[in-house]
Amino acid sequence: MDLKQYVTIVDDYPKPGISFKDITTIMDNGPVYKYATDQIVEYAKKVGAEIIVGPEARGFIIGCPVAYALEIGFAPVRKEGKLPRETIKVEYGLEYGKDVLTLHKDAIKPGQRVLIVDDLLATGGTVEATVKLVEELGGVVAGCAFLIELGYLDGREKLKGYDVHALIQY
Ligand code: PRP
Repeated sequence: MDLKQYVTIVDDYPKPGISFKDITTIMDNGPVYKYATDQIVEYAKKVGAEIIVGPEARGFIIGCPVAYALEIGFAPVRKEGKLPRETIKVEYGLEYGKDVLTLHKDAIKPGQRVLIVDDLLATGGTVEATVKLVEELGGVVAGCAFLIELGYLDGREKLKGYDVHALIQY
Protein backbone atom coordinates (compact mmCIF):
# COMPACT_ATOMS: atom_id res chain seq x y z
CA MET A 1 0.00 0.00 0.00
CA ASP A 2 1.30 3.48 -0.85
CA LEU A 3 0.67 5.21 2.47
CA LYS A 4 1.87 8.57 1.20
CA GLN A 5 -1.24 9.06 -0.91
CA TYR A 6 -3.32 9.09 2.29
CA VAL A 7 -1.38 11.99 3.84
CA THR A 8 -3.06 15.34 3.13
CA ILE A 9 -0.73 18.25 2.47
CA VAL A 10 -2.06 21.50 3.91
CA ASP A 11 -0.14 24.47 2.56
CA ASP A 12 0.57 27.51 4.74
CA TYR A 13 -0.49 25.79 7.97
CA PRO A 14 0.08 26.57 10.81
CA LYS A 15 1.80 29.59 9.26
CA PRO A 16 2.75 30.86 5.80
CA GLY A 17 5.43 28.79 4.08
CA ILE A 18 4.83 25.60 6.12
CA SER A 19 3.50 22.58 4.24
CA PHE A 20 1.70 20.63 6.99
CA LYS A 21 1.45 16.83 6.74
CA ASP A 22 -2.03 15.95 7.98
CA ILE A 23 -2.23 12.32 9.15
CA THR A 24 -5.91 12.43 10.10
CA THR A 25 -6.69 11.11 6.61
CA ILE A 26 -4.71 7.99 7.49
CA MET A 27 -6.41 7.64 10.87
CA ASP A 28 -9.97 8.03 9.62
CA ASN A 29 -9.53 5.22 7.09
CA GLY A 30 -9.69 1.94 9.03
CA PRO A 31 -7.74 -0.35 6.67
CA VAL A 32 -5.08 2.31 6.06
CA TYR A 33 -4.65 3.07 9.78
CA LYS A 34 -4.37 -0.67 10.44
CA TYR A 35 -1.83 -1.11 7.64
CA ALA A 36 0.35 1.70 9.01
CA THR A 37 0.08 0.27 12.53
CA ASP A 38 0.96 -3.23 11.29
CA GLN A 39 4.13 -1.93 9.63
CA ILE A 40 5.33 -0.47 12.93
CA VAL A 41 4.28 -3.63 14.79
CA GLU A 42 6.55 -5.66 12.48
CA TYR A 43 9.43 -3.26 13.16
CA ALA A 44 8.76 -3.42 16.91
CA LYS A 45 8.99 -7.23 16.78
CA LYS A 46 12.22 -7.05 14.77
CA VAL A 47 13.91 -4.83 17.35
CA GLY A 48 12.51 -6.79 20.30
CA ALA A 49 10.49 -3.96 21.85
CA GLU A 50 9.21 -4.65 25.36
CA ILE A 51 7.43 -1.32 25.85
CA ILE A 52 6.36 1.57 23.63
CA VAL A 53 7.08 5.19 24.59
CA GLY A 54 5.37 8.00 22.69
CA PRO A 55 5.31 11.80 23.08
CA GLU A 56 2.03 13.65 23.20
CA ALA A 57 -0.20 14.03 21.40
CA ARG A 58 0.22 12.40 18.03
CA GLY A 59 2.75 9.91 19.36
CA PHE A 60 -0.17 8.38 21.28
CA ILE A 61 -2.22 7.97 18.10
CA ILE A 62 0.53 5.96 16.44
CA GLY A 63 2.09 4.27 19.47
CA CYS A 64 -0.92 3.03 21.43
CA PRO A 65 -2.32 0.69 18.74
CA VAL A 66 1.17 -0.79 18.33
CA ALA A 67 1.34 -1.55 22.06
CA TYR A 68 -2.17 -3.02 21.96
CA ALA A 69 -1.33 -5.29 19.03
CA LEU A 70 1.79 -6.60 20.76
CA GLU A 71 0.13 -6.83 24.18
CA ILE A 72 2.92 -4.74 25.67
CA GLY A 73 2.76 -1.51 27.66
CA PHE A 74 2.69 2.10 26.54
CA ALA A 75 4.30 4.92 28.53
CA PRO A 76 3.26 8.49 27.69
CA VAL A 77 5.77 11.34 27.44
CA ARG A 78 3.93 14.55 28.30
CA LYS A 79 4.43 18.26 28.63
CA GLU A 80 5.24 19.45 32.16
CA GLY A 81 2.41 19.34 34.69
CA LYS A 82 0.35 16.68 32.91
CA LEU A 83 1.61 13.51 34.62
CA PRO A 84 0.27 13.05 38.15
CA ARG A 85 3.10 11.20 39.90
CA GLU A 86 6.85 11.66 40.32
CA THR A 87 8.48 12.45 36.98
CA ILE A 88 11.84 13.09 35.40
CA LYS A 89 12.05 15.93 32.93
CA VAL A 90 14.13 17.24 30.06
CA GLU A 91 14.22 20.63 28.35
CA TYR A 92 14.24 20.68 24.59
CA GLY A 93 14.58 23.42 22.04
CA LEU A 94 11.68 24.70 20.00
CA GLU A 95 11.87 27.09 17.08
CA TYR A 96 11.38 29.90 19.59
CA GLY A 97 12.31 29.19 23.20
CA LYS A 98 12.20 25.95 25.13
CA ASP A 99 9.68 23.44 26.36
CA VAL A 100 9.82 20.56 28.84
CA LEU A 101 8.88 16.91 28.40
CA THR A 102 8.31 14.56 31.32
CA LEU A 103 8.02 10.83 31.98
CA HIS A 104 6.89 9.00 35.10
CA LYS A 105 9.94 7.88 37.09
CA ASP A 106 8.71 4.27 37.28
CA ALA A 107 7.54 4.06 33.64
CA ILE A 108 10.50 2.00 32.47
CA LYS A 109 12.49 -0.73 34.14
CA PRO A 110 16.30 -0.64 33.87
CA GLY A 111 17.39 -2.71 30.88
CA GLN A 112 13.92 -2.75 29.32
CA ARG A 113 13.94 -2.52 25.50
CA VAL A 114 12.02 0.56 24.45
CA LEU A 115 10.60 1.50 21.08
CA ILE A 116 9.98 5.23 20.75
CA VAL A 117 7.07 5.95 18.40
CA ASP A 118 5.85 9.27 17.00
CA ASP A 119 3.95 10.45 13.94
CA LEU A 120 6.67 12.73 12.63
CA LEU A 121 10.45 13.09 12.62
CA ALA A 122 11.12 16.73 11.75
CA THR A 123 14.08 18.48 13.43
CA GLY A 124 14.43 15.52 15.82
CA GLY A 125 14.20 17.67 18.96
CA THR A 126 11.22 15.81 20.40
CA VAL A 127 12.65 12.34 19.87
CA GLU A 128 16.08 13.40 21.13
CA ALA A 129 14.46 14.62 24.36
CA THR A 130 12.46 11.38 24.59
CA VAL A 131 15.64 9.30 24.19
CA LYS A 132 17.20 11.23 27.10
CA LEU A 133 14.22 10.48 29.33
CA VAL A 134 14.24 6.77 28.48
CA GLU A 135 17.98 6.44 29.04
CA GLU A 136 17.89 8.37 32.32
CA LEU A 137 15.62 5.61 33.62
CA GLY A 138 18.02 2.93 32.36
CA GLY A 139 15.90 1.93 29.38
CA VAL A 140 17.54 0.65 26.20
CA VAL A 141 16.35 2.45 23.07
CA ALA A 142 15.79 -0.49 20.72
CA GLY A 143 14.58 1.79 17.92
CA CYS A 144 12.64 4.88 16.91
CA ALA A 145 9.67 4.52 14.55
CA PHE A 146 7.81 7.27 12.72
CA LEU A 147 4.96 7.44 10.31
CA ILE A 148 6.62 10.33 8.46
CA GLU A 149 10.19 11.58 8.16
CA LEU A 150 10.96 15.05 6.79
CA GLY A 151 14.40 14.09 5.51
CA TYR A 152 15.28 17.65 4.53
CA LEU A 153 15.28 18.70 8.22
CA ASP A 154 18.02 16.17 9.10
CA GLY A 155 16.33 14.86 12.25
CA ARG A 156 18.30 11.62 11.83
CA GLU A 157 21.49 13.53 12.61
CA LYS A 158 20.30 13.76 16.22
CA LEU A 159 19.71 9.99 16.29
CA LYS A 160 23.16 8.80 15.23
CA GLY A 161 23.83 5.35 16.64
CA TYR A 162 20.11 4.57 17.05
CA ASP A 163 17.96 2.45 14.77
CA VAL A 164 15.47 4.69 12.95
CA HIS A 165 12.53 3.52 10.86
CA ALA A 166 10.05 5.73 8.97
CA LEU A 167 7.17 4.57 6.77
CA ILE A 168 6.86 7.71 4.61
CA GLN A 169 9.62 10.02 3.40
CA TYR A 170 9.53 13.64 2.27
C1 PRP B 1 4.98 17.35 16.41
C2 PRP B 1 5.04 15.89 16.03
C3 PRP B 1 6.31 15.42 16.71
C4 PRP B 1 7.19 16.65 16.66
C5 PRP B 1 8.21 16.52 15.57
O1 PRP B 1 4.44 17.46 17.68
O2 PRP B 1 3.90 15.19 16.47
O3 PRP B 1 6.09 15.03 18.05
O4 PRP B 1 6.34 17.79 16.39
O5 PRP B 1 9.02 17.66 15.48
P1 PRP B 1 10.56 17.68 15.83
O6 PRP B 1 11.18 16.46 15.19
O7 PRP B 1 11.02 18.95 15.16
O8 PRP B 1 10.72 17.72 17.31
P2 PRP B 1 3.90 18.80 18.35
O9 PRP B 1 4.99 19.35 19.23
O10 PRP B 1 3.35 19.68 17.28
O11 PRP B 1 2.79 18.27 19.32
P3 PRP B 1 1.38 17.50 19.08
O12 PRP B 1 1.70 16.09 18.65
O13 PRP B 1 0.81 17.54 20.45
O14 PRP B 1 0.61 18.27 18.05
